[in-house]
Amino acid sequence: MSNVLEEGVLCMGMAASHASGKKANDRIFIYNTKAQADAKKIGKENVVNGTLGAIYDENGDILFLKAVEEEYLHLPRQEYAAYAPIAGLPEFLEAAIDECLDGCKPDAYISAVATAGGTGCIHHLVHNYTNPGDKVLTADWHWGAYEQICRDNHRELVTYSLFTDEFTFNIDAFKQAMLDLAKQQENILVIINTPGHNPTGFSLTDEDWQQVVNFTKELVAKGKNKVIIGVDVAYIDYSGPKTDVRKFFRLFSQLPKEILVVACYSISKSFTMYGQRVGALISMTSDKEVDEEFKEINTLTSRATWSNICRPAMRTVADIVENPAKMADYETERMKYGQLIEERAHIFMEEAEACELTCLPYCGGFFITIPTEQAIEACEELMKEHIYVIPLAHGLRLAACGVSKRQMKGLAAKIKKALESVSK
Ligand SMILES: Cc1ncc(COP(=O)(O)O)c(C=O)c1O
Repeated sequence: MSNVLEEGVLCMGMAASHASGKKANDRIFIYNTKAQADAKKIGKENVVNGTLGAIYDENGDILFLKAVEEEYLHLPRQEYAAYAPIAGLPEFLEAAIDECLDGCKPDAYISAVATAGGTGCIHHLVHNYTNPGDKVLTADWHWGAYEQICRDNHRELVTYSLFTDEFTFNIDAFKQAMLDLAKQQENILVIINTPGHNPTGFSLTDEDWQQVVNFTKELVAKGKNKVIIGVDVAYIDYSGPKTDVRKFFRLFSQLPKEILVVACYSISKSFTMYGQRVGALISMTSDKEVDEEFKEINTLTSRATWSNICRPAMRTVADIVENPAKMADYETERMKYGQLIEERAHIFMEEAEACELTCLPYCGGFFITIPTEQAIEACEELMKEHIYVIPLAHGLRLAACGVSKRQMKGLAAKIKKALESVSK
C-alpha cells in the first residue's frame, strides 16, 4: 500500500496508510488520570477511584505483596542487569505452568513461552493463530484491548452474546458464532476470559466448559476447521478457591489434535507486578508437533516484537514458586487480599440488591458491571461526586480491587441515583 493518493496528493501525517488514524487514548487510563488529579486536589480519601485493574489497600495505596517485594528487591545484582532467554527463564516457565494449572494439569503436552504481560499473550495468539483479514471471536462483554490488538494486527474482533436472559453462559450463542466462523475461515481463535471475567466478574461453570469442549470436538470432527481456545485467566487467583477455579483445565486432556488450548497467564495480577510486564502463554495439546510449533512460532514472535522480557520479575516468580516457605507466605497474603476484594464486592452487591440497582452476575475477579445505555452521562454525573468508574458501551465498570470497604458503603445507592438522574 502506498501513502500517495491517486491524484498525487500526499496523505496527512507521516504514518503508512495502514497505521494512519490510529488513536491510543485508552479510556481506563484517561479516567484514572482524572481521578488522580482530583485526589491531588481534595485528598485521596475523598475520591472513589474505581477505574484501574490493580489492587489498592484499604488506605488507597497500591498493593505490592510483601513476599514478592522482599524477593524482588533482594535479587543478586546480575539478575537485574542481564538479558533473559527470549522464550523466558526456564525456571520461570516451569513455575508459571505449576502455578497456573496447579493440581489440575490435563493429560497433554504442556509448554510455556514468556510474554510481556497477559496482553502479550493475546497479541501472540491473534498474530500467530489467525491470518490477516481473519476474524477472532470473543464475548460481547470483553476487555477493550482485545479489539485494539485485533485491529492493530489487521484482524476483526467479532462477538457472541455472553449471557442468556437468565444471566447464564449463552452456549447457544457461542455455538452459533463458532459455526458461522467455521464457514468463513479454517482457523478459529476464540478468546474466553474466565474465571472472574473483565468487566463483569462472571465465570463459566465446569458444566459450561464441558459443553464448550464437547461442541468444539464435534466441530473439528467435521474435518474442516482447527480451533484455538485462548483462555484468558488474568484473574484466576482472585476468583475463588485455588483448585475449584482450575478444575476445568482437566477437561483439556487428550483432545483431538485440531484443538489447541492456550492459557493466558498474567503475573501482573497474580504477583502484583503490573509494571514489570510479565506473563506466560501456556499451551495444552495432544500433538507433539503442535507443541513444538507453539514454542517455535511464539518465541520468534517475541523476538520480533519485544525480544526478551523482564528478567528480575521472572526470577522472582521462579524463586517463590520453587521454595515452599516463600510460596506459603505469598499465597497466604494473596488470599488475604483476594478475600478483601470479595468482601468489597459483597458490600456493593448486597446494597445494589437492596436499592434495586441491576448488576451483571459477579462470581469473582476485580470488576463489577452495572448495565446502562447512558454510561458516559452517568460517569460525568458521578464525577461531580468524586466517583470515578469506567464507561463501557453498555455499562459502567467498577473496580472492586481499588475501592476500600469504607468507600464501597453507600456507593450502589449513589450510582443508582446518578443513573436515574441521567435517564430523566
Ligand atoms: C481480561 C484481561 N486480560 C489480560 C490482562 C492482561 O494484563 P497485563 O498485560 O497487565 O498482564 C488484563 C489486564 O487488565 C485483563 O483485564
